[in-house]
Amino acid sequence: MGSKILVVGAGYVGLTSGICLASLGNEVVCVDNNIEKIDLLQAGKLPIFEPGLLDLLNKGIDRNLLRFSTDLIKHAKNANFIFLCLPTPPLEDGTADMSFVYHVVDEISPHLNGSAIIVNKSTVPLNTSSEIKSRQLNKAVAVVSNPEFLREGSAVTDFLNPSRIVIGADERSSAIKVAALYAGLEERVFITDPVSAECIKYMSNGFLAMKVSFINQAARFCEAIGADVVSVSLGMSLDPRIGRSFLNPGPGWGGSCFPKDTAALAAAALSKQSPMTLVEQAANDNKLHQNEIARLITKEIRDLGKTAVSIGVLGLSFKANTDDTRDSPALKIIELIEMSNVACDIRAYDPEASIENRATFSRVDSISEAIIGSDLVIILTEWPEFALFPPESYASLMKGNTIIDTRYVLDNSLFHQCGLRVRSMGRVQS
Ligand code: UDX
Repeated sequence: MGSKILVVGAGYVGLTSGICLASLGNEVVCVDNNIEKIDLLQAGKLPIFEPGLLDLLNKGIDRNLLRFSTDLIKHAKNANFIFLCLPTPPLEDGTADMSFVYHVVDEISPHLNGSAIIVNKSTVPLNTSSEIKSRQLNKAVAVVSNPEFLREGSAVTDFLNPSRIVIGADERSSAIKVAALYAGLEERVFITDPVSAECIKYMSNGFLAMKVSFINQAARFCEAIGADVVSVSLGMSLDPRIGRSFLNPGPGWGGSCFPKDTAALAAAALSKQSPMTLVEQAANDNKLHQNEIARLITKEIRDLGKTAVSIGVLGLSFKANTDDTRDSPALKIIELIEMSNVACDIRAYDPEASIENRATFSRVDSISEAIIGSDLVIILTEWPEFALFPPESYASLMKGNTIIDTRYVLDNSLFHQCGLRVRSMGRVQS
């Protein structure tokens, strides 16, 4: 039998971590203060959409390796490892709000046995591990940084087939104990000191955000010179030093991590008088890019020459394979369209996004319902079904003939053959 693990926080990170750690043979209790969420989980249901997670949830429950509870203290008392998977949302100045983490740390500290190890999974400000250590009443309790690199929509794969498992600890013995929880993945373990481990997480996200901002900026340049950004991206990616991933142009980056982590990294760097200006610029350009995408769309709307326009929007989540709409570029761009001075009736379809109707659009349940009779269609999230929907069906359902594809998922020539025009930033128009 594996070790007794307490996971605190049943969000995207806590649920994926807890359920996957149980699938590796550890005994896991996942605690959250939301009783509805805990009841749902104990009944074998998920409050989030994450491919592959439901199956592992039910396997863990069936094998008696996975339980859910709201009783934090009870389970802290006999846990060998306490994984902190708590929200660290950005404050006004971009620094992380640590109140959720420190509240839990102070609540459990009096109850931890000397051999317990606190494992910090949340993305936290640099040197948080030493702050948590300093708050411990029992100084024998070790604190280890084990940042997560999970992408929503592929979190299970990322957890069970990680490119690296980063463990930051002051004592190597603590790092080895945490590494042992990842049974069968030991060769992926990378051990370092706590602050370097925290830094690896921020720098990785900062670099990836910068890479996406680069190709989005390149899309705007290709628009200006008449080049094809998809061809440019593919040509660049053939250089193994550049690589294919995170080089896809889009409507800008969003989600619960990139915006938060780039802001926190920039703020932390500024506070140390060593600004990460490249990351600051990536974030600034991301905002500019979303405005430029909205400008391209509103020009297409105005070019229709109508006082009222019917628009079909496909995609609301911040990327495909997730229900998460936090900081979704799709929502930002819809808001920017609404600020243009043309009356737009927007019907939006997304297979999973967890969001209700808003004043700016009404939610419908299928692609057909979103695009029927529309003057214009806008693809804002790269759900595969949007590219699989036949071009002739788009043509027969739409009233207009233009599809703005901000995710570059449609085959322009196929759609052109059906009399449709596909418009993407930085692509020669079909
Ligand atoms: C990210 C990191 O990838 C992950 O390692 C970390 O643990 C958490 O933050 P996530 O927030 O789930 O994961 O999203 P990610 O897949 O990184 O995409 C971030 C944004 O960039 C999305 O809006 C996505 O649409 C956009 N993106 C990504 C692009 O526009 N083009 C790309 O090529 C890749």
